[in-house]
Amino acid sequence: MTTLFINIKELVGVREQNVLLRGKALADLPSVKDAFLLVEDGIIAVHGAMNELELLIPNLPPVVTDAGNQCVLPAWCDSHTHLVFAKSREEEFVDKLQGKTYAEIAAKGGGILNSARVLAATSEDELFRMAMCRLKEAALLGTGAIEIKSGYGLTLEGELKMLRVIKRLKQQSNLTIKASFLAAHAFPPEYKENHEGYIRLITEQMLPVIAAEKLADYIDVFCEEGFFSVEEMETICKAGASHGLKPKLHVNQLNSIGGIQAGIKSGAVSLDHLETMTAGDINDLAASQTIGTLLPTAAFFLRMDYQPARKLIDAGAAIALASDFNPGSSPSFNMNLVVALSCIQMKMLPEEAINAATLNGAYAMELQNGLGSICVGKKANLIFTKPIPSIAYLPYAFGSNLIDKVMIGGIF
Ligand code: NIG
Ligand code: FE
Repeated sequence: MTTLFINIKELVGVREQNVLLRGKALADLPSVKDAFLLVEDGIIAVHGAMNELELLIPNLPPVVTDAGNQCVLPAWCDSHTHLVFAKSREEEFVDKLQGKTYAEIAAKGGGILNSARVLAATSEDELFRMAMCRLKEAALLGTGAIEIKSGYGLTLEGELKMLRVIKRLKQQSNLTIKASFLAAHAFPPEYKENHEGYIRLITEQMLPVIAAEKLADYIDVFCEEGFFSVEEMETICKAGASHGLKPKLHVNQLNSIGGIQAGIKSGAVSLDHLETMTAGDINDLAASQTIGTLLPTAAFFLRMDYQPARKLIDAGAAIALASDFNPGSSPSFNMNLVVALSCIQMKMLPEEAINAATLNGAYAMELQNGLGSICVGKKANLIFTKPIPSIAYLPYAFGSNLIDKVMIGGIF
């Protein structure tokens, strides 16, 4: 199947070379005005300016679509989500609005353990059905690739159930999906006083099965006071590495306890959250190959300080943006909102935010060879906008849905 799109107002994120964007380079979003784009069998085949069309495509294919002045950009690459869960948690949201503290909500059995309890009572088929619905809705909002974590199982059976759901999503969805194993999300109540026991369960019982069934691409740990210590994270990452899983880690959401330095040492692909960063954390991350993934909708929902995006960019760190979609701290997978909040609240430029949510997001899932930019040979995961005056209008008009159509693998 070959489709030629002509008269594209602006083709955005056009790059022949892949490069992880850091520092000033993040603000460079190459584009071609008045452009055409040829998609062949789901792959970007040719693109260029309209005045080169005759030269580059002498024989027009049978299907030619006039883009009617739409802008076209790479679909969002959402590199951090918890998309598989059994039930939303809006009752906790209301409790918090009424002044209940996190501790009171946790004492009532809320938070991650609440999600774990409901997940245990939900079948794999039902989890799959709900997750597939969410995935389809996320795709309509422009997401074309997504990372999904386990972490609401917290038992061998529960974690395997979640990861098998993600495996089925990979097989049946046209989105590109990566799976992260996050049993180290919270200590189950029966292991509250026996951290070693739970870590042994993760490393000795869960990991071998997950590796044998190829259920995960990455290993994740929630490294935070009251959750997993730096030392515990190191032990888990080491065990993951022995099974071929690289880390993508939750660090520095609430406290700076050394997660950045330990994460870099463990060879993490990305370190995610980063609301609480010291000057040393920022410099260490900037000097490393590890991507810092910012999750501004989590900071928004929890009314926390936003991630220090400007300081990170100015220090030369490579940053990505993701939704952290989950029922507790970010009940939205809308990457358009993530991009808008990044500009409005973290003072990222529209070009920086779009790069961080596309090409750098693809890097944060090691998908940069097939996704994240308009490049010959990459998968045709594309956002077609409604008529907009310029690309900066996307984060500016933050409350409007400015997406007309989304193409995933060449199909609308
Ligand atoms: O990324 N920080 C830890 N995990 C999630 C929240 C999970 C939940 O509350 O269900 C996060 O924000
Ligand atoms: Fe998260």
